[in-house]
Parts: sequence; C-alpha cells; structure tokens
Amino acid sequence: MEDRGFDLEGRLDALEEATLKRSLSPVDRVAERGYFAEPAGGDLPVLDSAEALVFASNNYLGLTDDQRVQDAARQAAATVGTGAGASRLVTGDTMVHQDLERLLAETKGTERALAFSSGYAANVGTITALEPDVIFSDEYNHASIIDGCRLAGCETIVYDHCDAADLRSKLERRAESADASDESWLIVTDSVFSMDGTVAPLSAICDAAEAFGAWTMVDEAHATGLYANGGGVVQAEGLADRVDVQMGTLSKALASQGGYVAGSAELIECLVNDARAFVFSTGLAPPAAAAASEALHIARHSDVRERLWENATHLRDGLEAMGFEVLGDSQILPVLVGDREDALALADGMRERDIVTPAIRPPTVPEGASRLRVTPIATHEQDDIVACLEAFRAAGEDADLL
Ligand SMILES: Cc1ncc(COP(=O)(O)O)c(C=O)c1O
Repeated sequence: MEDRGFDLEGRLDALEEATLKRSLSPVDRVAERGYFAEPAGGDLPVLDSAEALVFASNNYLGLTDDQRVQDAARQAAATVGTGAGASRLVTGDTMVHQDLERLLAETKGTERALAFSSGYAANVGTITALEPDVIFSDEYNHASIIDGCRLAGCETIVYDHCDAADLRSKLERRAESADASDESWLIVTDSVFSMDGTVAPLSAICDAAEAFGAWTMVDEAHATGLYANGGGVVQAEGLADRVDVQMGTLSKALASQGGYVAGSAELIECLVNDARAFVFSTGLAPPAAAAASEALHIARHSDVRERLWENATHLRDGLEAMGFEVLGDSQILPVLVGDREDALALADGMRERDIVTPAIRPPTVPEGASRLRVTPIATHEQDDIVACLEAFRAAGEDADLL
C-alpha cells in the first residue's frame, strides 16, 4: 500500500537543520517580568529560578495585570458569561460587545466599529468581504494582510516598504492598463511595522489613494491605544476622514484578545453580513471585550501612554549612545545586528542576564538584517530600563559588537 500520509519528521528535521524550528516556552504570567520555562514539549514545564525582565511583548501599556482591567474581565465573566456561546449574528451579541464598539468608534472618529475574535480574523474577513479587484500592499505588511490578499483571490501589487512614491507609480502604471477603468482598488498598510518599528507615511498614501480613487485600509495593530487620545497613527495625523478602513487588534496595548474594524456605518453593515470570519465564528468572549474596553478607557484617560513613550525614548537614546543602531520611529526598537549568529549571541547574552529580547532572523527579516526586537512597556520602572541597558553593554561587549 502506498503511503499517502505526511512526512512530518522530515519537515521538522529540515526546520531544525535550517535553525528555523520554533518551540513554546511558557511564562508564569503576562507582565513586564516573569519566570520562564525551557520548552517542555508535552511534559510539565519547570520554571526558571530567576525572574526575567520582559522587553519582548506587545503588552505595550502593561495593562494585562492592571487591577481595573482584570476586574472588568472578571465582572463580565460573572454577569455576562465566559464565552459568547454563538456567532454574534445568532445569540452571541451582548452589551459588552456593543459598549466596546461604541468606544472604539468614538476613539477612531468613525460612525461605527465591529469587533472580531482576532486581529487576524479582522484582516482576512475584511479584505475578502470587500472583494477588491486589485490590492496595493506594502512589502512588509503583516501575514494576516497577506493571507487576506491571497484569500481574496485578486491581483496583489506589492510596493516598496513605506514608499508612497513607489505606490503612486504602481497606481499610475495600473491605471494605464486596459481594464483598469471599472476596477475597485484597495491600498493596505500597517501603520506601525512590527519588525522594523517604522511608521507608514499615511498622509502621502492617502494623497496617492485620493488621486486615483482607491480606498485605503490601515492596520493599527501596533498603534491602537498609543497615540492621540488612545487612537493610533491615523488619529495622531488627523486622517480619520481620509482612511476608509481602520483596523486593529485588542491583543496588544489593549491587553486582551480580538480585533476590530472601524469605519462608516455602511462598511460595518457589509462586514456584519459578508465577512465570513465574523459571520461563521463565535463572538469575541465577553471578558475579552470588557477587558479591552477598560484598557482603552485607561489608555485615553491616564498618563500610561506618556510613561511608555518616556521609556521608549530613554531606551533608544541609551542604546544609540552605546553605539547600537536602532531602527524605526516608534515604541518598537529593533536593534540592528546584521549577522544572524551575532544576533543569536547577543540575544543569548541578554537572556543570561535575565533580560528577554529575542533575535529576529531571516526569513522574518532580510538576510544580513538580523536584529533584536526590543519593546519597552509603560510599567517598566527606570531601574528596569537601566538594567536592560547595562545588559546590552555587557552582552554587546561579550559578542564583540561594541
Ligand atoms: C500588524 C498586525 N496585524 C494583525 C495582527 C493579528 O492580530 P491578532 O494577534 O489579534 O490576531 C498582528 C498580530 O500579530 C499584527 O502584528
């Protein structure tokens, strides 16, 4: 009998050989510090004896262990339920979903918003529901955007990273083609890029979109909650009226789980009806919706954002003063190392000093551009930032990088 199964062992060996095999290392809690365990496979994990400082998560505002956010989740679980129990369109729509969506719409300056069960689902669901004829996509866009483009089955034209001039020339070229006149076009970009810390030139992208009648969709996953009044880069730059689809996650600064889309009432009505990732998926769990609402409220009405930006500036300045090259222009601080082995050595040196700053290597980033992705959290104390900088100096010297 022929074997029509799958050679999983071979696949895993190939990953191992290419040093691309990943594994799970649990931590005791999600906060700015914690105890990690070595990957345990299916066995019981054993936590390290030393506590590590975490400079690697997207919990940018440090709200995952905030008492108010935890109380909101607890209360929603007790009064509404632990799960939505069904698609929002059946019986899974609750008051906490409606509250969250009203607050998101207010923050994003739109008529309405819609919560999805993840940011991934929001991107895939929205892009496919719009059914564009052509998508123009930044070359470094997130995997969930790329998967949305693939699933939409239309032509995707990739433009150079954060390059509005390249986008414009690709729009121009497409406009010259024979059947472009009745096509629908969607330009899609992250606002803050997760691995590079770069910020998309949104105003120039909107100019290009408007010149050609295209729609613009912006993924604010790494910006939501961090900019003006708890909004994203779209709010910071006053572009809410020019961006057709504002998308983001609840899983990063908002310390919860889920995704959202904000836009016109018509857009949201269409997504409620046509986004398969919304229609055929159980509604966001009520405790997640309530936690995100509370986190968004705190992001809007406290000094937590300022504390994050202070920490990011302190850390960036300290690293640059030491001689490291720090990329980007946001709270994400990619420390460029170059060689993948050097990046691994630096990350290992940091880990030996109880600081978690993972190495990012090809194929996630281009060959020769390996880096450590360093993300401060609003709740890191000044001493934590100093400890991180001291570890960078010592580990950098050990790895001959300074
Ligand atoms: C830019 C971007 N978009 C979308 C997502 C997906 O969001 P979620 O984790 O909520 O599924 C992520 C998360 O990694 C992201 O970085």
